[in-house]
Amino acid sequence: MNAHNTPVSPILPGAWLGMVGGGQLGRMFCFAAQSMGYRVAVLDPDETSPAGAVADRHIRAAYDDRAALTELGRLCAAVSTEFENVPSASLEFLASCTFVSPAASCVAIAQDRVAEKRFIAESGVPVAPHVVIESTQALAALPDEKIAAVLPGILKTARLGYDGKGQISVRNVAEVRNAHASLSGVPCVLEKRMPLKYEVSVLIARGGDGKSAVFPLAQNVHVNGILAKTVVPAPAAPDALVAQAQDAALTIAAKLGYVGVLCVEFFVLEDGSLIANEMAPRPHNSGHYTVDACATSQFEQQVRAMTGMPLGDTRQHSPAAMLNLLGDIWFDGDKARSPAWTEVAAMPAARLHLYGKEEARRGRKMGHINFTAATLEEARTAARDCARMLHIPLD
Ligand SMILES: Nc1ncnc2c1ncn2[C@@H]1O[C@H](COP(=O)(O)OP(=O)(O)O)[C@@H](O)[C@H]1O
Ligand SMILES: [Mg+2]
Repeated sequence: MNAHNTPVSPILPGAWLGMVGGGQLGRMFCFAAQSMGYRVAVLDPDETSPAGAVADRHIRAAYDDRAALTELGRLCAAVSTEFENVPSASLEFLASCTFVSPAASCVAIAQDRVAEKRFIAESGVPVAPHVVIESTQALAALPDEKIAAVLPGILKTARLGYDGKGQISVRNVAEVRNAHASLSGVPCVLEKRMPLKYEVSVLIARGGDGKSAVFPLAQNVHVNGILAKTVVPAPAAPDALVAQAQDAALTIAAKLGYVGVLCVEFFVLEDGSLIANEMAPRPHNSGHYTVDACATSQFEQQVRAMTGMPLGDTRQHSPAAMLNLLGDIWFDGDKARSPAWTEVAAMPAARLHLYGKEEARRGRKMGHINFTAATLEEARTAARDCARMLHIPLD
């Protein structure tokens, strides 16, 4: 076992880096690592994965394939992940032959809403009132009053949820019991629906030496549980709240002994108070703006953290807005259409990023557009105009 928190000495360009997961986050990681002179091997079972298409090597195998993990671990001086549902046992196995960041123990916490909420609360950061429902029997034994105390609420599966999947809105006790049955009685968290004023996220990187670098506060708009838009710096957040959110993320990362890029999502409530929602042990959709608007992108930061290189400057050089491109905009009712890329290219503020996914499906993340400009107002206006042009529903 490599018990070190950091590679013994920095891993230099020319070395192989490994990425478990072949989605868009892995693809953008490849771009960053390759432009710094590293070679990247991606492990993903999908023949046509976005990252596999651009990696120097694509190992096509399941995330728990021991032979494939051994191949990845032997080839690569360090391995990271882009996908928090990678089995933590696979990361633990990889750690027996290479440096792995973030550590399996951190990923395991972020994979499980129950453990995640407990960990965040133990870090002294408030979370939404919630009740843990471990099983059908446990729910049957739960008194109505305990359930009613967190209603109206949202029933969320403890594991494997993302982009609002595995979540059911519930108003009364009967609905909770039905909803839990419809989720096959898997372990869940029943969370009180909070009065949100707005949502923000903090992206940080932490090196094995304990040094951290924090990006500016991002303000996020979700539509149907999926991130739709990010604006940075967060226009609604007073300075004190920015500091509070950044401190909370740094505290959580330090308590985790985290090495790598971490994103913590927060809710700002109607009364101005801040509570943590969840965390992602990897670069995050709300950090995509960093590629065009910051001195160091979140993906370069991931490379730096995993190689033991000094973390990069997180300074934001341009105000920014980001729009997610979901597969929905490839459809006009039942008819397929091609989004207006020529018009997007004609916008001076817009930088188009598409993930190379062959098939557009509703709700599927196909790409995003970053808007940068001299002022935040200009960047936001460009994003608003572009959303209208591409038929992206906001709010
Ligand atoms: N307790 C809550 N109160 C109000 N809105 C919520 C609550 N939980 C989730 N949401 C809304 O749903 C979105 C997705 O929920 P989240 O728990 O972050 O799941 P996911 O893992 O799918 O991102 C949030 O960003 C927020 O807009
Ligand atoms: Mg979320």
